[in-house]
Formats: sequence, structure tokens, C-alpha cells
Amino acid sequence: MLKIAPSLLAADFTCLEQDIARVDKADYLHLDVMDGRFVPNISFGPPVIAAVAKITPLPLDVHLMIEEPERLLYDIFKAGQGKIDCITVHGEACRHLHRTLQEIKNLNVKAGVALNPATPIGSLKYVASLVDRVLIMTVNPGFGGQAFLGETIPKIEDTAGLLKSLGVSFEIEVDGGIDPKTAPLVVAAGARVLVAGSAIFGADHPHEVIRELRESSKVN
Ligand code: DX5
Ligand code: ZN
Repeated sequence: MLKIAPSLLAADFTCLEQDIARVDKADYLHLDVMDGRFVPNISFGPPVIAAVAKITPLPLDVHLMIEEPERLLYDIFKAGQGKIDCITVHGEACRHLHRTLQEIKNLNVKAGVALNPATPIGSLKYVASLVDRVLIMTVNPGFGGQAFLGETIPKIEDTAGLLKSLGVSFEIEVDGGIDPKTAPLVVAAGARVLVAGSAIFGADHPHEVIRELRESSKVN
């Protein structure tokens, strides 16, 4: 089944509690942690995650866009207060990706690997047994509201092919520029978790967009 994950980055931070309530029919709440080094932007970290965990009914899908994410794993995990479904690190940001994934699994949450648009998928093969979710970035990470990069479609297809050839069961997630127009393209290519920030939080009726995303991309 298709899962929808609104990205909090596009919420109105002057009234987070109300905005979070506007997306409670989604499957996950996607949290983008940025450090100003791995990406040219800074967002929020454990204190905000702790506050959000207290007010959302949704499981948290945490996307770490930070260098050496292993330094923050435990603090993030603790901040989630049992609400974290998955912690995703960028393959490019980990010197020892295999070890970092083991550390995430030791926290008893799902482990994800994110790849920037220009990063090849080859190394996934060697960590596949530790991975629950592969996040294919469909924009360059760091900012919401960017245009979807069409050249990521064949990459999603390649990742789905790898999944099949390895006989493993990780989910393919996409993030960046996802809206009711781009959703059918990424779903046809193999994506099953759709992150959307501006398309959902920027709408007058976020639940309508969540429904549209689900319907425009019906899969079994
Ligand atoms: C970008 C973040 C995304 C972002 C998506 O680096 O990882 O999660 O919030 O925003 P939209 O859906 O507006 O492209
Ligand atoms: Zn994200």
C-alpha cells in the first residue's frame, strides 16, 4: 500500500500544533533534520522533534541531512519518545554506512538510506539486509518547494530492479517536488512512500491532497 508522509519543513512554525493536526490522515510525519554542512540549510533537531512527538498521532519518519549522523542517533531516538518509525541517513554522509545502519537497527527502529540525485545506487547491494527503506531524493536536498527532477525516474526503476534481483523487501521512498502530478510517475517507477511538503502543507485542504496523492497513484 502507498504511504504518504507530509514533510514538516513546509508547515507554519508559528502554529505547529494546528498545522500538524491538519495532516493527521497521513501515514507518517516526515521530519527533515539539516545541519548547514551536509546541506546548505539548517532546520531543527532533537528539541523540536521532542515537542512534535508529543503532539502528533503519526509515526515519525526522520530524514537526517547531517554529516556523521551517528553522532546524533541516540539523541534523536530519545527525542522521538517511542514514536519513531524509521531513521534515514544519507549514504554520502556516513564514512561507515554499514556500521551506522547497524546502530540504527540496535535502537529497534527501521533503518533507511537516502541517496542524492547524483549518487549511484550500487552500494545498496552490500547493505540491503540492514535496510528497511531506500529514500531516492527527487530534488537536491536542503530546501522545500523545489522542482521535481525527472532524471530520477530511471533511478527509482533501477532501485526497484535491484530490490527484485536481491529478493529483499526494502520500501522505496521519494522526497522532493512530489505532488498529484508527479506522484503517478514515481509510483509507476516503484516508489511506495511519498514525501510531500509544500504540496500538502501549502494546500487549503491538506487532507484532500493526501487523498488525491493516494488516488492518483493506486497500487496494490
Ligand atoms: C528536502 C527535504 C524534503 C522537503 C520536500 O531536502 O528532504 O523533505 O521538505 O519538500 P517539497 O515536497 O516541498 O519538495
Ligand atoms: Zn526529507
